Amino acid sequence: MYKNLKKMPTHIAFILDGNGRWAKERGLPRSMGHKAGLDNLKKILKECFYKCDIPYVSIYAFSTENWNRPQKEIDFITGLAKNFFVDRFLKNFPGVRLNIMGDYTKFPSNVVKMAEDTINATKKNTKYVLNLGVNYSGQDEIVHAINGIIADGIQSVDRDTVEKYLYTAGQPPVDLLVRSSGEQRLSNFMLWQLAYAEFYFSNVMWPAYDKKEFLKSLIDYQNRDRRFGGIKEQ
Ligand code: IPE
Ligand code: IPE
Ligand code: MG
Repeated sequence: MYKNLKKMPTHIAFILDGNGRWAKERGLPRSMGHKAGLDNLKKILKECFYKCDIPYVSIYAFSTENWNRPQKEIDFITGLAKNFFVDRFLKNFPGVRLNIMGDYTKFPSNVVKMAEDTINATKKNTKYVLNLGVNYSGQDEIVHAINGIIADGIQSVDRDTVEKYLYTAGQPPVDLLVRSSGEQRLSNFMLWQLAYAEFYFSNVMWPAYDKKEFLKSLIDYQNRDRRFGGIKEQ
């Protein structure tokens, strides 16, 4: 399926959007959209790592702004997170290191414990990294980095210094950002790491963003001319 692709992103990021609308279109409660969205996430992550051999995948799963949703919906999403962690993460994603972006300690203590157990159990994995954005905000990440720099008594910084204090320290920047559901905005996701990323906006709601849609995103990426400010002919 992917064999004709010449250019694979090294780092791909997804803003999972449209779970609620997907459910509404089917006369289902929003929670069913989140459940279908999680099932789909597992499928697409497996494609990224094991079929496409993409080493870095970043996911926007819950933003700092998502606390503004009804408590019932937040509780349901938290419950799904438990299902994602437990030992199923290890079974589903061998070789993947889990890296959480955002202050996940704001979630209930049993979820925090599961997240930490999974981080510890996977920390020796070097082949693939999953950056999971939960209670995440790109602006907060930069503020968090600045506070870390201040705490370490560093007086003068350059880009490399800032990068070392981001949640993605040591990783390459994002090459391709995909957002589902037709919205064309960043909603505060990975502002620093997306500085030179290619953007792909899919009109499909996240639970329906299947392997074919994923392939379409990758095909579109093949034809992007990434100049990074330079010119081709001299
Ligand atoms: C994305 O789907 C999942 C989260 C933000 C947690 P939404 O829940 O935003 O779905 P829509 O955008 O309302 O359809
Ligand atoms: C962005 O989706 C956040 C996540 C996917 C976790 P939202 O649905 O929360 O974003 P807006 O409200 O459309 O900007
Ligand atoms: Mg949304």
